[in-house]
Amino acid sequence: MYRIASAIEVANEIAKMPESSTRLSKHLKNQTAWFSTFFRDVPMLIALSGRSYETDLERGVKISPDDLDKIKNYPDLQSSGASIQNLLLAATEEGYGTCWMTGPLYTREKIQSILKIKGPWKLISFVAISNPKEISRKVKEKRNIADEMVILD
Ligand SMILES: Cc1cc2nc3c(=O)[nH]c(=O)nc-3n(C[C@H](O)[C@H](O)[C@H](O)COP(=O)(O)O)c2cc1C
Repeated sequence: MYRIASAIEVANEIAKMPESSTRLSKHLKNQTAWFSTFFRDVPMLIALSGRSYETDLERGVKISPDDLDKIKNYPDLQSSGASIQNLLLAATEEGYGTCWMTGPLYTREKIQSILKIKGPWKLISFVAISNPKEISRKVKEKRNIADEMVILD
């Protein structure tokens, strides 16, 4: 129910986006619409929300949380990304197929209201989880770590 309502909002929002008259433009919009709404059909959808928090440094210095966030290059968002990646790795290890989805955030405010996510929390991403048709077991040739790294003396 939440998913269908969210998918409809996203599809409507994308449909409203201005397009040029080329076929490519239409194609890209259609592709984006699918890329951003297929979550409506997956067996499990996780909505990750997050909020910024006050660090020890913020309590000790006179810099606004927003400025500090900029200076430190958005550690809250970096942490969220790491948590999502860990979630994807764990689900993959269990044999599930996953998709990290920020496409639906075109209509973040509306989806937040459908999902009852209230400030200071913000929807960060959806993660779609499903049973893959096939599991890729292709193991790439092991590479030599020394060939991949640049060591700065
Ligand atoms: C931050 C982020 C957001 C993404 N959002 C979407 C999305 O909304 N819809 C989607 O289908 N895939 C989304 N993806 C998945 C990418 O499309 C996927 O990583 C890409 O297809 C990689 O394909 P590959 O493994 O074949 O290189 C997202 C990935 C990242 C890292």
